[in-house]
Amino acid sequence: MKIIPISKLLPGMFVQSVTKQTGRIKIKNQGWVKTQAGIDKLKNAGILEIEIDPDKTLTDSVPEKEPTQTSTIIKKRDPWQKVHSSEQEMGKAKKLYDEAKTLQIKAFKDIKAGRDIDIAPFRELASGFMDSVFRNQDALACLTQMRQKDAYLLEHSINVSILMGIFAKHLGINKDLIVELTTGALLHDIGKIKTPDEVLNKPGRLTEAEFEIMKLHALYSKQILEESGLTGVAVDIAGMHHERLDGKGYPYGKKGDEISLYVRMASIVDVYDALTAERVYKAGMEPIKAFKILKDGCPDSFDGELLTKFIQCIGIHPVGTLVRLSSQKVGLVTESNPATPLKPTVKTFYSAKHGRYTEVQDIDLSNKKTSDSLESAVKPKEYNIDLERFYKNSILP
Ligand SMILES: [Fe+2]
Repeated sequence: MKIIPISKLLPGMFVQSVTKQTGRIKIKNQGWVKTQAGIDKLKNAGILEIEIDPDKTLTDSVPEKEPTQTSTIIKKRDPWQKVHSSEQEMGKAKKLYDEAKTLQIKAFKDIKAGRDIDIAPFRELASGFMDSVFRNQDALACLTQMRQKDAYLLEHSINVSILMGIFAKHLGINKDLIVELTTGALLHDIGKIKTPDEVLNKPGRLTEAEFEIMKLHALYSKQILEESGLTGVAVDIAGMHHERLDGKGYPYGKKGDEISLYVRMASIVDVYDALTAERVYKAGMEPIKAFKILKDGCPDSFDGELLTKFIQCIGIHPVGTLVRLSSQKVGLVTESNPATPLKPTVKTFYSAKHGRYTEVQDIDLSNKKTSDSLESAVKPKEYNIDLERFYKNSILP
């Protein structure tokens, strides 16, 4: 038997008894906690500490040890198994992405009108994201790269949620928890709706006073989610995604083990997406450069071991990245190849040698018959390529 605080209780664990509580509620039966919602109920009932039977933990659904130690996350299944092809999945993924935008816009309106957010549709969407990621993560991953310059707040939250789901799946985290993580990620920046536009969209560096205003968004996010009835890891992500391991983050200045695995994951994904985002006043950074900046931030700001796993998971050249091959063909990475990350499948449509568009061709660089290889990631403007045109004409999977 082991006594743990309620904050360490995870779905799949067997609760033997309650050892500390503030309320008088009695748990009738011993048993397994199956969902995060069940854990939240216990927390809300004032349970502080419980005795668990580690021998009865369902190892398929729970990381084995402390969730702040990334090395203890054990992969129980092949996370790369693809149930559907990217082509089959893309239609569903696009529909989910559009639903996410509609839902975000509605949430913005609700908050502005002083109403609480209806969390249920967000959970449902998060669950839809997770199902899509488990069928074939490349489809949603590809959509995270197709950005409109003027939709940052909207798309950033959706992208962080998708990438969080892909990352959690890679770490072997159980599905119930993935839904909570992606729900939290979908709403992590909702507090920005209360940040004045001139601060939120200022192109240059923020003054000290403006930065203080900006910092408040994490607290607002937490408050909005709590008022809307959300608890647990989702609220932690919203309130703490700007915390850094050395304690120099905000709003609380928490450090080290005070920052959970899930919040550490969110902070990496959040910064990665912000760096690679196309903004009205700045071009998006290539993923490989964003990885370099994140690496420079280890171990002071980010968890290095976790960052390595994130890079492994989305690939050095993630799906949706524009690349040039040794044949001088230019195209988009459409399918990841985790066994050989430098040999993904690329849909080419431009010749750098001849400076013109070409017939669309799918090249699987891992195919032994292919003599072509990946030369480097490139920026669309290097070749004056209008990616929007390709997204609209759906040449992508
Ligand atoms: Fe934020």
